[in-house]
Amino acid sequence: MDKKTEMIKRRYNRASFFYDFMEAPMEAMSLKSWRIEVMKDLKGKVLEVGVGTGKNIEYYPDGLDITAIDFSEKMLEKAKMKADAVKKQVDLKLMDAQQMDFSDNTFDTVFTTCVFCSVPDPIKGLMEIRRVCKSGGRIIMIEHVRSEKQVLGLIMDVLNPLVVNFYGANINRRTLENISKAGYDKVEVTNLYKDIVKKIVIYNEK
Ligand SMILES: C[S@@+](CC[C@H](N)C(=O)[O-])C[C@H]1O[C@@H](n2cnc3c(N)ncnc32)[C@H](O)[C@@H]1O
Repeated sequence: MDKKTEMIKRRYNRASFFYDFMEAPMEAMSLKSWRIEVMKDLKGKVLEVGVGTGKNIEYYPDGLDITAIDFSEKMLEKAKMKADAVKKQVDLKLMDAQQMDFSDNTFDTVFTTCVFCSVPDPIKGLMEIRRVCKSGGRIIMIEHVRSEKQVLGLIMDVLNPLVVNFYGANINRRTLENISKAGYDKVEVTNLYKDIVKKIVIYNEK
């Protein structure tokens, strides 16, 4: 693991202790309904990348074969507790999204919620997802990105170093650009909150 990845991983280990508390207002406002929306699209063998404290787990549909990874062991511990509490079957693995242990073409659906703001090398992570997702499979993401509005975008750029330092997440990622740099060309985008929070569906054609 390179130095930058180690550093972000350490931030998330630390954030695991206050993550649920800090995200609670967002969760109540809209995150919960977006999570439920994503669950409707899951099919076949599923991978969740960046499971965090396991906030999606309670909404996992029954009867699917779901694997979930995170590179932060402390986040993963919380996710395990959540899976046990809500009695959901999920194969939780400690793994870096930038270098996954899975064979090519393993999953029918890969999904993320608020993860590509923090993957240290997002293009590498997106290319890994492309590799492990089957051709014809789908990648579904709920991600917050840098606003294209001039003033708001600049404010995000200015505040970004503070947020990364405290928390590990970037608030000014250009995730749609990164998706295209990772080689995807069939992408559907829906704005969920202004131009900042997006639902992104990628059809993985290889
Ligand atoms: C902002 S949290 C989101 C957690 C969860 N998806 C949610 O919706 O609450 C981002 C998560 O992505 C994980 N993450 C970031 N980069 C990663 C990587 N390269 N490999 C695996 N997990 C990563 C972090 O450890 C953290 O748990």
